[in-house]
Amino acid sequence: MRHLFKKEDMKKRNIQWDWRKIVPYGCVNNNSRHGGDIWRIAKELGRQPGEVIDFSASINPFGISVRALAAIKDSAGLLGHYPEPGAEAIRRELASYHNLPEKNIIVGNGSTEFIYLIPQVFRPEKALIIEPAFSEYRRALEVSGCKVDSYISAESNGFYPELDGLFAELERDYDILFLANPANPTSALLDKDTIMDIARRCHEHGTILVVDEVFIDFVEEESIKEVAAIRDNLIVLRSMTKFFSMAGLRLGYIVAHKEIISSFTHFSPPWSVNTLAIIAGVESLRDMDYIQRSKKWLRAEKSFVQERLEHIPYLKAYPSEANFLLVRIMLDGIKARDIQEYLLKEGILIRDCGSFTGLGEDFFRIAIRERVENKILLDKLERFFKESSRLLLDSSATRLLDEIPQG
Ligand SMILES: Cc1ncc(COP(=O)(O)O)c(C=O)c1O
Repeated sequence: MRHLFKKEDMKKRNIQWDWRKIVPYGCVNNNSRHGGDIWRIAKELGRQPGEVIDFSASINPFGISVRALAAIKDSAGLLGHYPEPGAEAIRRELASYHNLPEKNIIVGNGSTEFIYLIPQVFRPEKALIIEPAFSEYRRALEVSGCKVDSYISAESNGFYPELDGLFAELERDYDILFLANPANPTSALLDKDTIMDIARRCHEHGTILVVDEVFIDFVEEESIKEVAAIRDNLIVLRSMTKFFSMAGLRLGYIVAHKEIISSFTHFSPPWSVNTLAIIAGVESLRDMDYIQRSKKWLRAEKSFVQERLEHIPYLKAYPSEANFLLVRIMLDGIKARDIQEYLLKEGILIRDCGSFTGLGEDFFRIAIRERVENKILLDKLERFFKESSRLLLDSSATRLLDEIPQG
């Protein structure tokens, strides 16, 4: 079969990369790319998608705001029309919610749309990602032909980037730096001063800094959105997926300098935000009760889960500034995959973090959900470790006995 791009064509167009090496999205063998694939799991288990308890995607378990849901139902009659081209209604509402001018915001089909537009707008040749991180940064950069390096936030530094090392790395003049705050899957949160320091260093080297804040709504006061609106090298990525539980509707946005926003308007496809997302987004931002309840719930529920995890031997949960926890298995012979498989049989999905750069097979991530579901998960984890440690002890005792010289 003829390849879409011949090598000679690629050379002529000065395309350096081989896109065939990039794993296609939605590929059948690509199981561990993201959390949240309840569709595939439900099919495998012979259940309905809604019957899977999903701890693998870190989404507010309250579900979409009741106000937003009612507005969606009322707007069914509008679905035969195109959505508002620039999604002005939600852009206006976001501006008022964040107390920022509209000219500093652009909305799109989830923040992922912007992760893919960023390389188109800035045409970077060399990028740096602070990892472990969301895999789409690398993929979006690589499909656009950009060379990508990683700067690892090591476990020994609490999964925070070591700043002197990072600043030294930035001397290598990257076109763009991606980091997430709070980071995913570690949930490490850098304070505003540190982000500003990084932004300044980036500025000195002509590097654009992308700060992915899709998990910051739970700690909104930590956002650097106001600074992003006035600096010319800072892009803040935001989303309504996580806090507002709108993953299926796809609504994300960027906060940046008006000139940067203006460049994005040239690259954005029309109607990328659908009517239901616009309507639900507006209502969600007005639902103060939902917003306050969500923040309060997370504080209480996260402590509950952390406390219970502390009592499960062989598990270490890292401190968390987001609505999920990164957990390490401290028992030799047990991998995250084993726990994932065990829980899947019970219809529970967790995120094996083995595919994240900088983590290993002994890390997994769980979202904080509602009490009933959290209890189910914690009970099952307790049972898993009771059974596994007994089995492992038995087999090592047998091995020891085998090693004792006979006669
Ligand atoms: C750190 C991070 N950024 C961005 C996204 C994309 O979110 P969305 O496209 O739904 O806004 C995700 C999704 O999991 C994520 O974890």
